[in-house]
Amino acid sequence: MNGKELQEIIQWFLDYPERFRGRDGRIHRMLELKRDHSRRVAGYCRFIAFEIGWKPGPVNTAEAIGWLHDVGRFSQWDEFGTFYDPASIDHGAKGREVIENEGVLEFLPEATRTAILDSVILHNHREIPESTDPLSLPFARLIRDADKLDIFNLVYGHLAAGTIRKLLPGISTEKTASAPLMEEISRDGRASCHNVKTVPDFLLTQVSWVSNINYAPTFRRISENRLIERLRKYLPSRNPGIDSIINSALKQVAEGCIS
Ligand SMILES: [Fe+2]
Repeated sequence: MNGKELQEIIQWFLDYPERFRGRDGRIHRMLELKRDHSRRVAGYCRFIAFEIGWKPGPVNTAEAIGWLHDVGRFSQWDEFGTFYDPASIDHGAKGREVIENEGVLEFLPEATRTAILDSVILHNHREIPESTDPLSLPFARLIRDADKLDIFNLVYGHLAAGTIRKLLPGISTEKTASAPLMEEISRDGRASCHNVKTVPDFLLTQVSWVSNINYAPTFRRISENRLIERLRKYLPSRNPGIDSIINSALKQVAEGCIS
C-alpha cells in the first residue's frame, strides 16, 4: 500500500464516526475514546512493522489495519450500547462487514485487502486459526501486539487515576487474586475470562498476555516501559503465586526482546 492509499483509508476512518453524531450534535464520549485508541494502535502498528524491518508498503498496510481494527465498535455501541461482545456482537466480524459494505478497500490489490480484512476479524479472537492465509498471518499477529500495547497503557491509566472499577463494571471488590485463575495462568500461561472475578485477577490476565506476544519490538516496548513491573504495584504483596506469575512473565519478556 502506498502513502496516498493509506491517507485515503485514514480519511475514511476519520469521517466514519461523523454518522454517529447524536441529536445534540455530539459524538458519544465512548466513541471518541475508540477513535483515539485506533489512532494510537495505528502508531504502534507502524512502529512494530518498521522495527522488524518491513518495507514501506507493508508498513503502510500495518498502519491501516491499526486504524481500522476496531471500526466495528461504532455500530456495536450505537446498536447495543456496550462494548461487551458476549452481550452483543463480535466487533471484529462487524468491522469486516462495515469495511466491505463501505467499499473502503476497493482500490487495493486482493492480497492486501485479504490481509487487512483477516487481521480485523482475527484481532479479538482467542487464537489465530491455523487455516489463516499465510500472507495475512504476519499482519494478524502484528495488530494483536499493537492492540495489547495500548490496552496496557489504558489499564495503567485507570489504575493510576483510581478508576479501574469503571473499566470493569460488575467485578468483585475483593483485593485478592482467585486461586482458579492463578492455577490456570501457571498451568496454561493464560487465563479465561470466566475465571476473572476481581481486579487482581484482571491484572494477572494482563500480565499473562506476554505469553501471547509475537514480535521482539513489542517485547522491548513492554520491557523499556516496565509495563509488567508497574502492574505489580497494584497486586497483593507477599503472595508466592503472584510472584511466580510475575517472574515468569518478566523472564518471557526478557527472552522475547532478543528473539
Ligand atoms: Fe478490538
